[in-house]
Amino acid sequence: MQTTETYNDHVVRLFLLAAAVWGIIGMSIGVFVAAQLVWPALNFNISWLTFSHLRLDHTFGVIFAFGGNALMGTCYYVTQRTGHTTLALPRLANFTFWGWQLICVLAMVTMPLGITQSKEYAEPEWFIDILIALVWVSFGAVFFATLARRRIRHIYVANWYYGAFIIAVGLLHIVNNLALPVSLTKSYPIYSGVVDAMVQWWYGHNAVAFFLTAGFLGMMYYFVPRQAQQPLWSYRFSIVNFWALISVYMWAGSHHLMYTALPDWVQSVGMAFSLVLLMPSWGSAANGLLTFNGSWHKLRGDPVAKFMVVALVFYGASTFEGSMMAIKSVNALSHYTNWTVAHVHSGAIGWVAMITIASLYAMAPRVLGQMEMYSRKAMELHFWLHLAGLLLYVISMWTAGVTEGLMWRATDANGALIYPFIASLLTVKPLYAIRFAGGVLIVLGMAVMAWNLWRTAADARKRPVAPIPVPISGPAALPVSH
Ligand code: HEM
Ligand code: HEM
Repeated sequence: MQTTETYNDHVVRLFLLAAAVWGIIGMSIGVFVAAQLVWPALNFNISWLTFSHLRLDHTFGVIFAFGGNALMGTCYYVTQRTGHTTLALPRLANFTFWGWQLICVLAMVTMPLGITQSKEYAEPEWFIDILIALVWVSFGAVFFATLARRRIRHIYVANWYYGAFIIAVGLLHIVNNLALPVSLTKSYPIYSGVVDAMVQWWYGHNAVAFFLTAGFLGMMYYFVPRQAQQPLWSYRFSIVNFWALISVYMWAGSHHLMYTALPDWVQSVGMAFSLVLLMPSWGSAANGLLTFNGSWHKLRGDPVAKFMVVALVFYGASTFEGSMMAIKSVNALSHYTNWTVAHVHSGAIGWVAMITIASLYAMAPRVLGQMEMYSRKAMELHFWLHLAGLLLYVISMWTAGVTEGLMWRATDANGALIYPFIASLLTVKPLYAIRFAGGVLIVLGMAVMAWNLWRTAADARKRPVAPIPVPISGPAALPVSH
């Protein structure tokens, strides 16, 4: 049976558009700062254009503006479909959209001007932090109210991940940003010294866990079975992995502070939990990949499936790498080098960006009022541009990182350092140029996606497809039989 109600996709469309626009902005800034490392003259001697000022705009732009908009949009889309219901509190949902855009603009304008708390991934000053808290609580209210009015009794696993992402990010944001404002543009954190460092990296690491992982796993658990047209390989396994992931991640943050003033045992706890973390991480990666069993032929002609499979492979690869880097003796080599940057981007461009792009392609035709995207060839081109860019990026930075680590620790028979620091910089400079080229390919791919979305929307204006009514009974949106 069906109702005459249709899903509320207005706000989902806005988030989709914002994700595409911020994705291009955030990644273009990444390309620009990558170019500055090859050609420092690109600083133009303007303070806000320097690498150190713009780097924050890249990280905020890609994580919170691109990732955040994609997460909120897909979350609103998925809860409606998996619950056979429409969005609760639609006005508040619109507020979350406009509020989030205001936050992104304010942060991206103030940070390069030096108005920052200097906490990585939590740079915006106190007045922006309060806005973030307000929008986040509203986002949670819309999500949980929608969940509460669902017509399907079971709460599909994707919603568990979205729920954990919302609760944990709210908690992390508030605790890490407790500060005393001394003026409109300056505040001081209430923590100091090593406690400040520990709170910051408890936040920083769990921003990776709950922003860059749990939320995107929510996307994965909904869109992968949809695209593969198969039930999840194991539904039970997905729940086990959920509880394991959220209970282990919170304890691993101290691996960011190896060999610092943090007590040694706290560093060891971080290392141990990071190793355990590999299990639930690989559990989800395997569950996603095995869901393609019976549908592997799709990889021949379906670019969205290709994005998904490569995303899952990189999720598995980057989490394996992360667990290895958390081992103290490995971290002694990798820390401060571009190996960390390679790890970050194998997770960020490989896993996060690819599962996002796949989900946006899977969702866009439905919310724009079409049966499919305007051009499949353009999606195929996007896939190859992205993959080539990703490989250029990570292979060059892995090579640079290991080279730096080995050069910095090389000593002669008398124990003196063999290489001056500048020698390592000159050695990796060509690799920086390769990373820059990879970035250009990735941004080109994003531009192809924007064009394709725009043409799909234009077609929908000419020949709209009737929206699908909300079913009120019948099977759940996704089979959960295993
Ligand atoms: C066009 C693609 C991209 C390019 C060219 C690029 C470039 C860069 C560069 C040059 C840095 C500074 C590295 C350094 O400090 O030495 C950086 C840092 C970073 N980028 Fe990207 N990036 C891209 C895409 C992304 C995406 C899609 C994400 C996340 C979804 C991301 C997340 C980050 C993070 C978290 C850092 C900080 C890394 C750290 O502190 O170790 N990047 N990126
Ligand atoms: C099992 C999962 C993971 C573990 C155990 C892990 C572990 C680590 C370790 C040990 C570092 C290096 C810390 C340092 O030497 O400074 C690191 C850095 C980082 N990782 Fe992971 N990682 C995991 C998954 C991921 C994923 C999937 C992403 C992205 C989507 C990611 C993003 C980052 C970022 C952004 C940093 C750099 C933080 C900074 O210094 O600014 N990690 N991770």
